[in-house]
Amino acid sequence: MNPMTQPHTPALTSRLPKVGTTIFTVMSALAAETGAVNLGQGFPDFDCDPELVNAVTRAMQAGHNQYPPMPGVPALRQAMAAKMLALYGLACDPNTEITVTAGATQAILTAILAVVHPGDEVIVLEPCYDSYVPNIELAGGVAVRVPLTPGSFRPDFGAIAAAITPRTRAIIVNSPHNPSGQIWSQADMLQLQDLLAPTDVLLISDEVYEHMVFDGQQHQSAARFPGLAARAFIISSFGKTYHVTGWKVGTVVAPAAMTAEFRKVHQFNVFTVNTPMQHALATYMADPAPYLELSAFYQRKRDLFREGLAGTRFTLLPGQGTYFQCVGIGDLAVPERELPEGDFCQWLTREIGVAAIPLSAFYGNGFDQKVVRFCFAKKDDTLREALKRLARL
Ligand SMILES: Cc1ncc(COP(=O)(O)O)c(C=O)c1O
Repeated sequence: MNPMTQPHTPALTSRLPKVGTTIFTVMSALAAETGAVNLGQGFPDFDCDPELVNAVTRAMQAGHNQYPPMPGVPALRQAMAAKMLALYGLACDPNTEITVTAGATQAILTAILAVVHPGDEVIVLEPCYDSYVPNIELAGGVAVRVPLTPGSFRPDFGAIAAAITPRTRAIIVNSPHNPSGQIWSQADMLQLQDLLAPTDVLLISDEVYEHMVFDGQQHQSAARFPGLAARAFIISSFGKTYHVTGWKVGTVVAPAAMTAEFRKVHQFNVFTVNTPMQHALATYMADPAPYLELSAFYQRKRDLFREGLAGTRFTLLPGQGTYFQCVGIGDLAVPERELPEGDFCQWLTREIGVAAIPLSAFYGNGFDQKVVRFCFAKKDDTLREALKRLARL
């Protein structure tokens, strides 16, 4: 028999040849295998408010089990509109300017697919969240990588300005920032607004950690700046805000013309997002306390973790927001400090029993600055156990 007539899987040419299993999956698997405390992947090890779970049950029992409208359950979009106005002073129309998505991940991909044409350039600021560049490449775009200043992770506006060309379609900004835990100030956002004003560059503003900002500072949403809001997809994630990362529900706020293009892709991408969760979130959002109190909740955990680390030889980097803490490993008393960050993290997981993520994973060229990221969205006991193990270094 001709071998080609045998059942066989035809050969594929990868759309994403450089993409493998993400470091988060690798480190979580290694942590599980070795019994290490997993401070690698960013998710809480504690439960959400039981009231939120009860609200989902009630929504299901009330029969909210069929397709919701394509842009999302109206009550949830209305609740988001009220929040955008109350917190950031942005009046947006829930019918034409807010869309509910399957988490921020889908929101970012859909926004990019909606506006990036083959050959368009999109500026990403490294280190950055790992989905941005593959998303740009899936759209046929070109990722233009501009480093944040190593050490401080501050935006370098000279370098950003130099990266803007007639082909630049968008810039992705993420504040509070994963992995560094740094936030953009009002002055930074004003500078971005001035820089983009004479251009047609769109802003994809990844604000999933908007409610985790410390030391009395305010989240500087793009929504606060009219010149940015008029050109921005503003992306939020209920998973981060309400300790339900597995629910994968988020929102995108954007001007009507941008939302119209976004929804064209959204309706053939996921079409809709699961109904009972949306109803539950809409009900739960009626009380702003859970998101207004989130910064204080995580600041306490950050302080507990930083105080513990201060007694070790890890170098503490600043942490103004998110649930991540970056540390330098260059001054540790062990020879493994010389290893590449990725190998160091494997060693730390296996031998010390704490999983972390190497910063090099957030750079296209694997830039190694001897810094690793811990996630402190963990029970206090989990953090204390990790600190006890890290104190050996
Ligand atoms: C910066 C950033 N953007 C987006 C996401 C994805 O959020 P979601 O779980 O809502 O898809 C994450 C999750 O880790 C993130 O850290």
